[in-house]
Amino acid sequence: MSDKFPKHFLWGASISAHQTEGAYKSDGKGLTVQDTRPRDNHEIADFTVASDHYHHYKKDIQLLAELGVKIFRFSISWARIFPKGQGTINQAGINHYQDVINECLQHNIQPVITLNHFDLPQALEDIGGWTNRLTVDAFKEYAKTVFEAYGKQVKYWLTINEPNVMLLVDQKILGKQIPIKEKYQQFHHLMIAEKYAFKLCHTLVQDGKIGPVPNISLVYPATSSPLDNQASLYFNSVRNWAYLDFSCFGRYNTVFKDYLKQKGVSIHFEPGDKTLMQENFPDFIAMNFYTTVTVEKPMDKNNMSEGISDQQSEDIMDWGFYKGVTNPYLKKNQFNWTIDPDGFKTTLQTLYDRYHLPIIITENGLGAKDELTDDHKVHDPYRIDYLKQHLEKCLEAIKAGVDVFGYSPWSAIDLVSVHEGMSKRYGFIYVDRNEKELKQLKRYKKDSFYWYQELIKTNEIPP
Ligand code: BG6
Repeated sequence: MSDKFPKHFLWGASISAHQTEGAYKSDGKGLTVQDTRPRDNHEIADFTVASDHYHHYKKDIQLLAELGVKIFRFSISWARIFPKGQGTINQAGINHYQDVINECLQHNIQPVITLNHFDLPQALEDIGGWTNRLTVDAFKEYAKTVFEAYGKQVKYWLTINEPNVMLLVDQKILGKQIPIKEKYQQFHHLMIAEKYAFKLCHTLVQDGKIGPVPNISLVYPATSSPLDNQASLYFNSVRNWAYLDFSCFGRYNTVFKDYLKQKGVSIHFEPGDKTLMQENFPDFIAMNFYTTVTVEKPMDKNNMSEGISDQQSEDIMDWGFYKGVTNPYLKKNQFNWTIDPDGFKTTLQTLYDRYHLPIIITENGLGAKDELTDDHKVHDPYRIDYLKQHLEKCLEAIKAGVDVFGYSPWSAIDLVSVHEGMSKRYGFIYVDRNEKELKQLKRYKKDSFYWYQELIKTNEIPP
């Protein structure tokens, strides 16, 4: 096999609604948990304007066409379609995404749509959010509405972005901390909602394909100690496999069940849940990958706080099970996330051998503090380097037999990072604003834009 990627490989770029759109109250949109989330840890750029993609989508899609992407992954804001999460449909919201889809198709770009990316309508949060089973009913209504509205044109669908991360870092992403018992009931509801999405997509969208979209970080044991190996077994299960085993096999795995038992948590099933989960499956797995995690068995409770401080950080602890440690073999980025291209290959191989489903990478990329020069250039060799290293390993995985059919890195344009606001940028396209000043919100192509453009054109990693 040559050094080229497969002929019809789906090169893309990704974003989410709440991190890019802005226009948070325009045209009838309801509030979401992202609009109301307390942001007390840093001075995070607000989401009310974000990158103003809502008003710049034509320009942004035109730039993506110039980049050469075949797919564009974005999410629909549920609260634009149902301002209260359920009930009355907001036609302006339906029309907006119709316009975005038309614009993509006119440029020969296939939309890949995430049904929900961290922005639950606030009206549903007010009735208990994912803890309340009514949110599952509301999600069904929402999913049915968008499949019916766009299913003729859009064939690739993703369910709910990273339920595993939403639960691991709930107080940061969803706005409030919840007790562990409630947390895993929420998890069950999210997984059931996803199963309904599989079912509805397969019923309503002709030739439609749908997949789960978890954030997978393979977990390594810190040493060859059997106890550290146990720690990695448990965190791998809680962090990664619990979600995908449910999606792809229709069951909770035994390690996860034991974890819940030891925590005194039991999940309540409604009649019909078992049939639903065992009869509806995805067509592919959409994987978000940034890094890997290394854990040991926690031995000393002193000076340790339980929990997780950041979705990819090593600052995690679950007493009795696992504790994150620094991996001495890996470098870190400016924001303390480890960089592990070899781990990317191992993750792809592990995922494929576990589930035997085609894989599309829907997030991978480097968050960095980019600088716009006086002549409006952004020199980001560090991002090119990151992408290059990961794509080399992706190609090795493909050569080793893993069915990877697309790569859609994070992110198409600069956006408001979940943890660090606008000071952590991911895009191929620079958006001229910062934490405090909106400026003109003009778009500028970074060096990585030209590098990725060349890659897409040749299907080969440029030197
Ligand atoms: C992913 C999320 O897990 O991580 C994105 O799906 C997020 O929404 C990305 O932006 C990077 O995280 P952060 O905190 O750097 O924005």
